[in-house]
Amino acid sequence: MGVVSMARIAEVSEILSGKHVSEEVIVRGWLHNKRSSGGIHFLMVRDGTGIIQCTMKKDRVDAETFEITKKLTLESTIELNGIVREDKRAPGGYEIQVSGLKVIYRAEEGFPIAKKYHGPDFLLDNRHLWIRSQKMQRILRMRARFLRAAREWLDQNGFTEFHAPTLITAACEGGATLFSVKYFDREAYLTQSWQLYAEAAIASLGKIYTIAPSFRAEKSRTRRHLTEFWHLEVEVPWCDLEGIMKIEEEMLTYVLHKLAMDSAAARDLEALGREPKDLARIEPPFPRITYDEVVEILNGDGINFEWGNDLGWIEEKHLTLKFDKPFFVTHYPRTAKAFYHKPDPKRSEVTLSVDLLAPEGYGEITGGGQRIEDLNELMERIKENNLNPEDYKWYIDLRRYGTVPHSGFGLGVERTIAWICKLNHIRDAIAFPRLINRVYP
Ligand code: 4AD
Ligand code: MG
Repeated sequence: MGVVSMARIAEVSEILSGKHVSEEVIVRGWLHNKRSSGGIHFLMVRDGTGIIQCTMKKDRVDAETFEITKKLTLESTIELNGIVREDKRAPGGYEIQVSGLKVIYRAEEGFPIAKKYHGPDFLLDNRHLWIRSQKMQRILRMRARFLRAAREWLDQNGFTEFHAPTLITAACEGGATLFSVKYFDREAYLTQSWQLYAEAAIASLGKIYTIAPSFRAEKSRTRRHLTEFWHLEVEVPWCDLEGIMKIEEEMLTYVLHKLAMDSAAARDLEALGREPKDLARIEPPFPRITYDEVVEILNGDGINFEWGNDLGWIEEKHLTLKFDKPFFVTHYPRTAKAFYHKPDPKRSEVTLSVDLLAPEGYGEITGGGQRIEDLNELMERIKENNLNPEDYKWYIDLRRYGTVPHSGFGLGVERTIAWICKLNHIRDAIAFPRLINRVYP
């Protein structure tokens, strides 16, 4: 059995970036794939930073190592050493010429994810193993990079991260999608949005943001609804509708450019079917159209849509196919938006609300707008929505003590990643999706 030499442990991502050419390295990882041809084993080794081809020639290792490797099961954990070579034929352009290999743990035979077509349900049932696939690795890395860049922009622009509770007692986005939980001898709910608490916190911290899970008991099966999703939310005092749109487009542009310029991110995007230049060319200002204009466009195109309803999947899909960059839809009717949206002082049947829609058929990725700051106006909207003011007592208090014009938005992380990575279904934008019919694994 080949003994691994004293060379240094290298990460696959370093090797693939050309760092260790002609050096002897040690790589530790999982046997992702394997094929043999004549006197050579081609081993694809995955180490959590990437996948690299390692070639083992019969005459370069001892006979026992070659035989053990021949019978080695997929997903066994191994440690190998060898010299790094540049090779255009190898995936990623580099390979390791193996001179020693040690099996750390041999995996059982029959790894369930085989090199053949598996249906979506099988892959969801085996999600704990499927996240090792190259596609999921790429998506999960893109997601981490996306959040890192968004945090970077928010931190650089003076926003403070603030955390709101997950267990709450009053709905932010309507009772229909609340998950209730037994909270000792009373009922509580899982939060749909940090917003109501954020409105309290701006009087303490000023401009704030969070990145946290939100929950919606979505009873419909669609390609864009999860029951648990990650929510990037922002709340800003002294900010109106136009002000919050500027923040959204600047933050998103920064993030998209960052992803397009980063060479590892760009490689992942390309492999997922997204051209980095699609993201690099997006610049503010994003187009702004009103809800009224949307209704006109839809009806003009023969899609029957009544003024006053919220835009659904079909309408957004149709509309967003006309765009190749994100765009804002503003001034939704009060009947289509939650109670906290500020009615437009110039036209009270619409609100100072805004959704950001991703192009190419994807649709809404953020929702937000200007909030009601006036006590009486808030009380009216609470009544109009048949909500119980008792449930919102502390929230109403905020209009009694130091109220201020303010705005905010919430961005659905998975919806945004689905668009950026050109995914067909939102479930692939998160490692362990929660859907109406799935809470396992
Ligand atoms: O439009 P929504 O419901 O707005 C709010 O929750 C506001 N309180 C946010 C705020 O102003 N702070 O949700 C915001 C975003 C949506 O645009 C969408 O991207 C995402 O959250 N989202 C979902 N993503 C996946 N699955 C679901 N079921 C989602 N519901 C909303
Ligand atoms: Mg919305």
